[in-house]
Amino acid sequence: MDNGNGYIVFSDLRFRKEALDELKALLGDFKREKGSTEKFFVISADMEKDKVLSRFVDGNPVFIDNIIPLSGILEFSKGDYKAVTDFLLQRLKKNQSFRIEVLNVRSDAGENAKSIEVKIGSALESLGFRADLKAPEAFVYIILSGKTALVGMLDRQDILKERLDEFRHASKGEEKKISRASHKLAEAIELFGIDTSRLKIILDIGAAPGSWSVHFSNLGAKVVAVDNALLDYSKFNGDKHIVVAAEPRFIEQTKELVAKMERKPEVIEIDKIDTARFDILHVRRRALDLSTHLLGSPRQFDLLAIDMNVEPDAAAEAANHYSDLLKEHGYLLLTVKLFDRKARENIRKVSGILEKEFDSIRAKKLPHNRLELTLFATKR
Ligand SMILES: C[S@@+](CC[C@H](N)C(=O)[O-])C[C@H]1O[C@@H](n2cnc3c(N)ncnc32)[C@H](O)[C@@H]1O
Repeated sequence: MDNGNGYIVFSDLRFRKEALDELKALLGDFKREKGSTEKFFVISADMEKDKVLSRFVDGNPVFIDNIIPLSGILEFSKGDYKAVTDFLLQRLKKNQSFRIEVLNVRSDAGENAKSIEVKIGSALESLGFRADLKAPEAFVYIILSGKTALVGMLDRQDILKERLDEFRHASKGEEKKISRASHKLAEAIELFGIDTSRLKIILDIGAAPGSWSVHFSNLGAKVVAVDNALLDYSKFNGDKHIVVAAEPRFIEQTKELVAKMERKPEVIEIDKIDTARFDILHVRRRALDLSTHLLGSPRQFDLLAIDMNVEPDAAAEAANHYSDLLKEHGYLLLTVKLFDRKARENIRKVSGILEKEFDSIRAKKLPHNRLELTLFATKR
């Protein structure tokens, strides 16, 4: 690997083969270099940096999370980041603000990423460099693995993705209480560029225990949630009006169950749904059994979310089943479970089914997806 042609490629180890296939399709020739871990691998490619980065932006890879040009490979030992600091001293510009992001993958550092960021950042600041944690002009990535520090430096305009480690940032402070499901949704909204100001009313299928519904409600949308299981109603803001609709034969049972809960929404019969009179409406039915006319007139929803533990083709059929309720160009977010691990085949199969009703279908393995992908599409 020469100076300037190395890259750190981030991808989940579970989909490493798929990521390598994508890389081949995007770059043609590249070489694997030493230094793989469960979070990334290192390659060299004889192509201009700008070209490599733009192929990633235009190629919308499903299994590659991020790619960072490698500026240097340095050694470090516990508590001693002098070589890294010296390296940055020579390359950072004093008139450019910076932020350091450390990812610690089984290194010998013996301290956490945050504390290393603070140490190196303060050392640079004491030498006249300017840190800016919110909107830096230069991003410095330091990836520690074994006794090696891989250093990547990028200007703001070249950034594909700001954060190296969604899991560390996701588990900070207040956010600790938010479930993996909610992070998955937040990542999808950001990655697929969903305009949240357009989200006035959302249909959430397979909604229990309710993290997605809560997230949508916090964005200011009305939510119709469909699931046989109850939601955790206490997670919704106290000022939201929640209604649970059940079939007549399940009304008494539902009332008894709700009476034992921390927050006790009103329970009504399913054919008495008044779509004007709620903030969150939970319809207690199995998703695929529900006649869509019960949820009101066609073309009223801005987003259809489906996050069910079902086979990929059943999830896609469910999307088509509900699609008439979506407005023209309304969004679809669909979780595709990869029970059989055949990622490419399932994307093809699911896209084939969705094409009847949807356009602009895109898939992505999001950081908080496990053995699953998230699909995005718009209603035609
Ligand atoms: C992964 S959980 C959904 C998590 C949810 N998105 C959240 O944020 O809390 C899957 C849900 O799908 C529901 N589910 C599975 N098959 C279903 C079906 N045929 N009809 C309705 N719900 C179904 C289950 O009851 C379960 O609550």
